[in-house]
Amino acid sequence: MTPSGEATVAAPANIAFVKYWGSRDPARGLPENRSISMTLSRCRSVCTAVFLPEGDGAPEAGAGEATRDEVLRVDERGVARPAPEPFAAPVRSHLARIRRWAGAAGRFRIATRNSFPTGAGLASSASGFAALTLAAARAVGREAAPEELSDLARRSGSGSAARSLFGGYVEWPAAGPRDRASDGEGSGGDEALPASPIAPPDHWDLRDLIAVVAEGAKEVPSREGHRRVLGSPYFRTRLELLPERLEEVRRAIADRDFDRLAPVLEREAVDLHFLAMSARPPIHYWVPGTLEVLAAVRELRAGGVPVAWTMDAGPNVHVICPAESEEAVRDRLAGLPAVRSLIRDRVGPGPSSEAEPLL
Ligand code: PMV
Repeated sequence: MTPSGEATVAAPANIAFVKYWGSRDPARGLPENRSISMTLSRCRSVCTAVFLPEGDGAPEAGAGEATRDEVLRVDERGVARPAPEPFAAPVRSHLARIRRWAGAAGRFRIATRNSFPTGAGLASSASGFAALTLAAARAVGREAAPEELSDLARRSGSGSAARSLFGGYVEWPAAGPRDRASDGEGSGGDEALPASPIAPPDHWDLRDLIAVVAEGAKEVPSREGHRRVLGSPYFRTRLELLPERLEEVRRAIADRDFDRLAPVLEREAVDLHFLAMSARPPIHYWVPGTLEVLAAVRELRAGGVPVAWTMDAGPNVHVICPAESEEAVRDRLAGLPAVRSLIRDRVGPGPSSEAEPLL
């Protein structure tokens, strides 16, 4: 990796066992609760960042600096095109943040690519912003510990990107108590809030079979969900239940105890959607295919197969199981009419430097 100028990094997606759901300021990644996730292996985003320092062919810095950053998206066939504005705008504002953090002046050229099918309705923002943070930080030549980069990544607008900086099983804290004295709005967001690994990937070989039942972007982005669920009358109730759930999940991971993990995993996913459905106005992510997959998971379990489901803010189902049940689970899910595609993933290592630049 060159100390400055250009870097290409791949970063993984992650699936939360205890969800980050509800934020006092989603744009700054200030979660109301702690979360725990498993880092994935196959679902990754690759990002190449080129930094052109001022006086090195780059136009002079100024108020409009961010608008000169070039953001390209590389499709499945390897063709790079300018990213549409809804994709490019949050990338540019994160690049402006990285410039401030590094005290650097100049402009970026960015290219990103997902290893998993785009348009499959799978959240790619965590892996995307983790890869962007790492590649851009390296391109501007600022060395930093993973914790500092995790904290930088969570400010991207995809809070869960903080967890994608690490492999294996990862925990991310909640924002500190609201600081009513200062602005009445909540924590200033200036405190460091990095995620940290709690177990390496080889500690427990869990699999994640992602049953895609609806393709395309979800109706309500998670950023909006984080805001709306604060208005659910059940929001505080879930917060009260969380310390026990977090402890159960930590213990289940430490002891590789799937029977302990499974019920908490499903309760958490139910609550994510329960809070969404009881928000004002409500958010409905489930589609008929979702229920078909959940029924199949229950049937498998009734037949003695260790398996459980979880979901993010969307209709697709992450079916989690130990390595030894993967074949049975795959056979059952692949045969369901509702399942349009099945992505076979597993716990994985964290980000990696890539030799092949996208640009
Ligand atoms: O990373 P964000 O801000 O897009 O939030 C994602 C939140 C969930 O995926 C719904 C849950 C989680 O903890 O990953």
